[in-house]
Amino acid sequence: MTQLELIINQTSVTLDVDPATSLLDVLRNEVGLASPRFGCGKEQCGACCVKIDNKLVYACTHSMAEAAGQSITTVEGLGTPENPHPLQQAVMDLNAGQCGFCLSGILVTASKLLDENPAPSRSDVMTALDDHLCRCGAHNRIIDAILRAADKR
Ligand code: FES
Ligand code: FES
Repeated sequence: MTQLELIINQTSVTLDVDPATSLLDVLRNEVGLASPRFGCGKEQCGACCVKIDNKLVYACTHSMAEAAGQSITTVEGLGTPENPHPLQQAVMDLNAGQCGFCLSGILVTASKLLDENPAPSRSDVMTALDDHLCRCGAHNRIIDAILRAADKR
């Protein structure tokens, strides 16, 4: 075990962990954040995506040794129930998800997209979400929600 520090959603957290443990396991099991999901464990579904210093990372294959000392944003860091991020509000307004399993990773990716491209086309959104699977087939509604959030901003 090694003592490692992470900055998670702007709060510093120090943990005693095996540096080989995945960031996803630590976020879910040690920190108690439920949003990053385990889908495939092989960088194939995007359910575990988080931002590290504004880069998208698959938390399922990113080790704690790699993540140590860095600033991590999960969907919990985008907004709150009282003050949701425009993306979260748009997903609720359009009832865009079905089971919601894919949504945390998609919203983290979409937040990066909107930060870099505040007025994306439908094709821009589809390209940004290329590495995200939605097993419910809710892609079209989710894309509509992202475009609505961009409009509202
Ligand atoms: S769980 Fe990480 S990409 Fe699927
Ligand atoms: S809403 Fe169920 S996997 Fe996307």
